[in-house]
Amino acid sequence: MPFSCQKAIVVGASSGMGAAFARELAARGATVALVARRKDELDKVRAAIDTAWGEGRARAYVHDVTSYEDTASLFAAIVSDLDGLDLICYAAGTMADIGPDEFDSAKDKPVVEVNLLGAIAWLNPAAKLFQDQRRGTIVGIGSIAGDRGRRAYPSYHAAKAGLATFLESLRNRLSQHGVNVTTIKPGFIDTAMTRGMSGLFWLRTADEAARMIWKAVSKRRSTSYVPARWRIVSWVIRAIPSVIFRRLSI
Ligand SMILES: NC(=O)c1ccc[n+]([C@@H]2O[C@H](COP(=O)([O-])OP(=O)(O)OC[C@H]3O[C@@H](n4cnc5c(N)ncnc54)[C@H](OP(=O)(O)O)[C@@H]3O)[C@@H](O)[C@H]2O)c1
Repeated sequence: MPFSCQKAIVVGASSGMGAAFARELAARGATVALVARRKDELDKVRAAIDTAWGEGRARAYVHDVTSYEDTASLFAAIVSDLDGLDLICYAAGTMADIGPDEFDSAKDKPVVEVNLLGAIAWLNPAAKLFQDQRRGTIVGIGSIAGDRGRRAYPSYHAAKAGLATFLESLRNRLSQHGVNVTTIKPGFIDTAMTRGMSGLFWLRTADEAARMIWKAVSKRRSTSYVPARWRIVSWVIRAIPSVIFRRLSI
């Protein structure tokens, strides 16, 4: 059956890849619920979609993904507002500025809360709904950074690894019910998260990434690197023995 999406939620839709993927979904015919904390930025994304694709094609919902007690009721309210749901994309993410000799649990906590616990809180009710209706698509924005425990950002690498494993479990549970689960692993994308970082290469815009994400999702891919060449990098990185990897400054 050809892939189509009429009703979607994007969590982390106020900027970067989440905003770009929301625009991409709208361009492909979907009505999109935009979720994030910054109301002004959400309103800009909503207005741009409405201007391009018609009034009411996007709706904004202000929410902090660490308010876990509110997630299930907000999810239900959005599904009711949209009168159903075909796809959910969890794009919310944050990184901590951790120095190479720094170990700081206070900085690590929000990284795990936003990148992993927030994803679990949003994707569980979506998984239940999609299982019951025997169709639907779950998309999670992980990272190549989750493919190995590198020196740079321990909690970020761990949270993205945890997210990839959680998504794999959802896929293994839900594929028998006709539900697709796609894990997206971007390399370096030009967004607020990477601005000011040095040593970036193969940089892509958020709009370019969103088109690649759509392609992966519409082809019902399990895991997709963005852009695809990062799959080779990942393969090399994962093949390096631990005893050598710990001596590398990557
Ligand atoms: N940029 C890259 O090179 C790169 C590479 C690999 C993976 N990623 C991943 O891609 C995803 C999107 O990031 P991006 O690069 O597009 O950066 P971004 O522009 O900073 O987007 C991050 C999004 O997450 C939302 N968010 C953060 N904390 C939140 C919270 N507590 N509650 C609700 N929403 C929250 C932000 O919205 P508010 O601030 O308005 O809440 C924003 O919409 C992230 O998961 C990131 O880890 C990025």
